[in-house]
Parts: sequence; structure tokens; C-alpha cells
Amino acid sequence: MRYAVLGDGKRIRPALAMASALAAGGTEAQGLEVGCAVELVHCFSLIHDDLPAIDNDDLRRGRLTVHKAFAESVAVLAGDALFALAFEVLASSCLSDSAKARANAVLSQAVGSQGLVGGEMLDVLSEGEPPKIETVRRIHLMKTASLISASCELGALAAGSGATVQSALGTFGRHLGLAFQIIDDVLNETSAQETLGKAAGSDRDRLKMTYPACLSIEDSLDEANGELAAALRQLEDVPGDTAPVRDLADYCVARDR
Ligand code: IPE
Ligand code: IPE
Ligand code: MG
Ligand code: MG
Repeated sequence: MRYAVLGDGKRIRPALAMASALAAGGTEAQGLEVGCAVELVHCFSLIHDDLPAIDNDDLRRGRLTVHKAFAESVAVLAGDALFALAFEVLASSCLSDSAKARANAVLSQAVGSQGLVGGEMLDVLSEGEPPKIETVRRIHLMKTASLISASCELGALAAGSGATVQSALGTFGRHLGLAFQIIDDVLNETSAQETLGKAAGSDRDRLKMTYPACLSIEDSLDEANGELAAALRQLEDVPGDTAPVRDLADYCVARDR
């Protein structure tokens, strides 16, 4: 569990939770606990995504994947335990009881069959199928944008903001999450293992249904930038300091790993 969580990840989800708390008019610190819960879910999803039964990858965050460094049994169970730990972190956080109940609902819906896990299922089922942009968009919204959206919504919730601001930041995160996964697809096609700290070219090898499988790299980047612009428009009526959340959004699209 420590090996999976404490490696060289970008921590974009907790950073977004903290920046969203600030954007909602609270402090960055208010977003820390919900951000940690989301990062634990994210790390669980990476362990299971890398398993031989799913993407069969040997490298993650610049070192061996958990099942390669330990064993498949360990990887399955470490993922399960991190998933549980995420909800333990929420339960023991300093949120009010009503905020905890709402946070539980937001996070569990983001991860479940209509969110990350459902998206992973569709991703697996779509391997080798003729690429369709509507399907890829749906996969990406579910497997990646759900959790990134939850990071932002939970940051706003933890800052004590009302439903309108939570929803604006959630929608911001949904557009940004789609852009984030489009860039992940593009980097898999155009970058190298040494830069990414994980395999490059693997989506093409596994006949994954990705943006570059449907569109040119240039058009994929245009789509990502369109989602970034849609994300930033959501911030117009958000009451706090939006500079950090804007910087993180730009980074999600401009990043090279
Ligand atoms: C990788 O996420 C999996 C996707 C949803 C694209 P990140 O690119 O955030 O991975 P880390 O946390 O930095 O390793
Ligand atoms: C992973 O998508 C999304 C998850 C929910 C883990 P990918 O399979 O494209 O991510 P990487 O490229 O392995 O990080
Ligand atoms: Mg995958
Ligand atoms: Mg993968």
C-alpha cells in the first residue's frame, strides 16, 4: 500500500481538491483530507488498472508496478485495502456529519459502476473494437473525469460552500478530467517511457479505444483545449481565489508526463 501511494505521482487530484477549496472561498488546508481520500482511490485504481487482467503493465511512476514488485495477490489486496482506507479517511476527517454523508455519496458515486470502475469495464470491453469517438468520450468521462470532478466538488464541499459552487467546481472538474485523459492518450502515443515513468505506445499495441485511435493528434489536442476552455468558463461565478485552480487546469493540458 505504501509502495503504491508514496511513489512519484503528480498528486493532481489532491492539488485540485485544495485549490478548489480556495476557489470556493475557503482555505487550501480545508481540501487536504478529501484530497487524500481521492488520492487513495486513485492509487487503488492504478494498481488494479496495471494488473495482467486489465492493462498488463510492468512500469508505473518510474518503477515496477505493484504486482511485478510483489505478487498479483498482493496487488489485488493492496488495492482493495486502499479503497477502504479512502473511506476511513473521510470518516475520521474533521468535516461535519452532514458534509461527511455528502462526501461519501460523491466519492462512492465517482468510483462505482457509473464512474471509474464502470469506465474501466467499458475500456476493457472496447479493446479491439472499431474506435468510435462517442464511446471513447464516455469511457474517459467515466474512468477519469468522474474522480477528477469529485476532487473539485469535494474541495468545495470541505470549504463549506453551497450547492451552486460545489456544482460549478464539479462541472469544471468533469471538463478538465476529460481533457486530462485525452492528454494521457496523446502522451501514450507521442512520448517515451523514460519521460512518462510508464509504458508508451501500449494503447496502440493493445488496440485501446483512445482519442488518437479516432482522431489525429492535432485534433485530439484541439478537443483537450476545448474541454479546458469549457472548464475555465465554469469558474466565472466562483467566489474565492481561482488562480491556483486555473494554473492546475493549464498544467493538466500542457504537462509532459
Ligand atoms: C494516470 O493518472 C491515470 C489516469 C487517469 C490517466 P495520473 O497521470 O494522475 O497518474 P499519477 O498519479 O501522476 O501517477
Ligand atoms: C486509467 O486509464 C484510468 C484509471 C481509472 C486507472 P489508463 O489505463 O489510460 O491510464 P494509464 O495510462 O495506465 O495511467
Ligand atoms: Mg487502463
Ligand atoms: Mg492503464
